[in-house]
Amino acid sequence: MEIIKTDFLIIGSGIAGLSLALKLKTLGEVIVITKKRLFDTATSLAQGGIACVLSEENHFDLHIEDTKLAGDGLCKDEIVKLVVKSAPARIKELIDWGVSFDRDPENPSRFHLTLEGGHSRKRILHVGDYTGRAIERVLIENCLASENIILLEHHFAVELILDRGCDADACKVDGVYVLDLEGSKVKIILAPIIALCTGGAGKVYLYTSNPDTATGDGIALAYNAGVTIANMEFFQFHPTCLYHPKAKNFLISEAIRGEGGILLNPEGKPFMHKYDPVRRELAPRDIVTRAIDMELKQSGGECVYLDITHLPSDYIKKRFPYIYETCLKFGIDITTQPIPVVPAAHYLCGGIKSNLWGQTDIFNLFAIGECACTGLHGANRLASNSLLEALVFSHQAYLKIKEIFPTLKKEKINLPKLKEPEIKEIKEEKIFISHNWDLIRKIMWDFVGIVRTTKMLNFAYKRINLINQEIEENWSGIYLDLDVMELKNIALLAELIVKSALLRRESRGTHYVLDFPFKSKEYERDTLLKKFP
Ligand code: SIN
Repeated sequence: MEIIKTDFLIIGSGIAGLSLALKLKTLGEVIVITKKRLFDTATSLAQGGIACVLSEENHFDLHIEDTKLAGDGLCKDEIVKLVVKSAPARIKELIDWGVSFDRDPENPSRFHLTLEGGHSRKRILHVGDYTGRAIERVLIENCLASENIILLEHHFAVELILDRGCDADACKVDGVYVLDLEGSKVKIILAPIIALCTGGAGKVYLYTSNPDTATGDGIALAYNAGVTIANMEFFQFHPTCLYHPKAKNFLISEAIRGEGGILLNPEGKPFMHKYDPVRRELAPRDIVTRAIDMELKQSGGECVYLDITHLPSDYIKKRFPYIYETCLKFGIDITTQPIPVVPAAHYLCGGIKSNLWGQTDIFNLFAIGECACTGLHGANRLASNSLLEALVFSHQAYLKIKEIFPTLKKEKINLPKLKEPEIKEIKEEKIFISHNWDLIRKIMWDFVGIVRTTKMLNFAYKRINLINQEIEENWSGIYLDLDVMELKNIALLAELIVKSALLRRESRGTHYVLDFPFKSKEYERDTLLKKFP
């Protein structure tokens, strides 16, 4: 079996992984692995932008307050302050790497700042309506230009290799079993520092704005290694994804509402004043999503509409070129027609529990970006705080790694007896795999969605458990088939989400349970899950 040794192993090629790689390259050799192509990340799909306080009238305290208000009582003060106050420095770094944020046409010495739900001030930097794609491109270009960064596509991380010579709390990670999907072999990559930057898990749900890669891989790796996972019940649903049979949940950015877009019910009437009379369309996402869900249930309609036609057509085309062109391909001219929209699973607020430095329970295993639960988002993430969180925590991790790496590098790796992994063949028809994929996603959408009940959650729990048992019996081990490997991860993620949802007997943020419609002081804490409690 091929064994590769490096200084830093990063799993995932979105903003968290690549920005960390660009920092760590100054300390040693970095390998970044990604299971598909470098660009296949949620970062590439991000439209809205990055929140950052840049002007005096918009000071840090207001961004801190907005983040905590959206987070509904579960944000960690220290983390919110750190992220908000570090934003200008991290944005400057992005600009130095080559990202060109839009400028204010009336005053080109300033950036154009936009608004999204839950923000009391305009503070969102953006590149048109394709901010994430612009950032991803710059990060990839910089990584490709560095001799110290090795980028390996089509490499899927299967299992963490732990140093079991110590007790659980002091445990160390030494490497990862990696499936090389194109080379059809398993490799071991050993490194003193490993960072999980694998993104979210939207594919657990039938409808999602996420890319196909969002199958919770990093969370599954960490959980299976005994690392603590937190707040999995808080899955955020984006209020507005394009409703069209061929659109595959194309996101309609919240920035459209930030620029004045109005939501209309299936009868063509505005409705947000009934649910949040002051903030209306710009209420935090959980509130807008539940309002749409309610309007759809009451009317029996299939979608609501987002209307921006009152803005000048030229402005719409210039400000939202990507959304304009994509909708036009589906026969919708957003300058003259309201956009049919529905909510879809968008962002996992929970994940691998990590500290101020991005460290997990295992001190040399880091988790950064959507796969982590830092305490920034609490029960509901504020719009445009996710790219920012990834940047801030890749920097925090870099600072900690700089401190611990010199000692770790000198330490002899005490490897356990490594198993020679067998790559298995799928014996049965692939319909068994695709059926379970569909089943999990439908169960989660129908019973663990925007509005939940205990009965629904119990129903989902039993079914997901059955699927997990079946997976254990039939597909344990390593298969040279991404669908099988990902199926195991979405099945585990579904179980963790339902388990956490059952543990939180209250409604808070994105977790809304009809049997417990109020917040309770008793639950002003994280929901923690661990494989080996
Ligand atoms: C959007 O553009 O609406 C998404 C922004 C985000 O998820 O923060």
